[in-house]
Amino acid sequence: MKKLVNTGISGLDELLGGGLPEGSVIVISGPPGVGKSTIAMQYINYGAINGESGIYLSIENNTSDVIEYAKSFGWDFPKHMEEKKLLLLDRTIFDDSEMQLSRDFGALKDIMDEMKPKRLAVDSVTLFDFLYRDDVSKKMNMMKFVDLMKKHNCTVLMTLKQGEDFPILKYNEWHFLADGLVVMFWNRNRAENERCIWTVKLRGRSIDTNIRPMKVTDKGVVIYTNDIPSIPQR
Ligand SMILES: Nc1ncnc2c1ncn2[C@@H]1O[C@H](COP(=O)(O)OP(=O)(O)O)[C@@H](O)[C@H]1O
Ligand SMILES: [Mg+2]
Repeated sequence: MKKLVNTGISGLDELLGGGLPEGSVIVISGPPGVGKSTIAMQYINYGAINGESGIYLSIENNTSDVIEYAKSFGWDFPKHMEEKKLLLLDRTIFDDSEMQLSRDFGALKDIMDEMKPKRLAVDSVTLFDFLYRDDVSKKMNMMKFVDLMKKHNCTVLMTLKQGEDFPILKYNEWHFLADGLVVMFWNRNRAENERCIWTVKLRGRSIDTNIRPMKVTDKGVVIYTNDIPSIPQR
């Protein structure tokens, strides 16, 4: 059996049956404000603290915003960077490199070869919409990206923006392509809103597919693995 990678997110490893199989690609999908970026930063921070180097690739935010955001949870990204446990990247690494990218991911591939990171977080997969104009090259390169990560035995967590509200979810290519899928959503009753998480799939592992309540605290995301949502499901 493959080595399991601890996510560092309280409760998530338990739902996933112990953690993420090394080299797997996991998609975390959800609407705005539910906690996707927090989970991505928390995953990388945990690795850096525990001797597993990682890359955090932010598409929508620049690196200084990410550093500030991480700091609000008490995560010291500049220190991890100094200790070579973290490489923080934003979309500028892809500037003018569409041609290069279509050949095995240009800049990112070189970085992976040199740094050999154990973890990668991509926030968010919108990256591929920016990089590829047509659906065929987009899909082809998504698969190439997954292959590249597996070749490096790098465990990848990617966020995906979900436009629809639970339980009417529109699935896209990533939901099927990824080894694992975690869906986060807002559960609402009148004025009350509750964050929920649902581990939908993980290839080769037995997981808890029940819906669990979660919170974003000042120390990051916490999942209540023994609780059921307090707001009745519609
Ligand atoms: N330092 C913090 N402490 C507590 N809660 C926070 C902190 N930072 C952000 N949050 C809350 O977490 C929410 C989710 O943030 P985020 O992970 O950025 O969501 P997403 O990426 O899914 O849009 C924010 O809207 C905010 O309410
Ligand atoms: Mg976000």
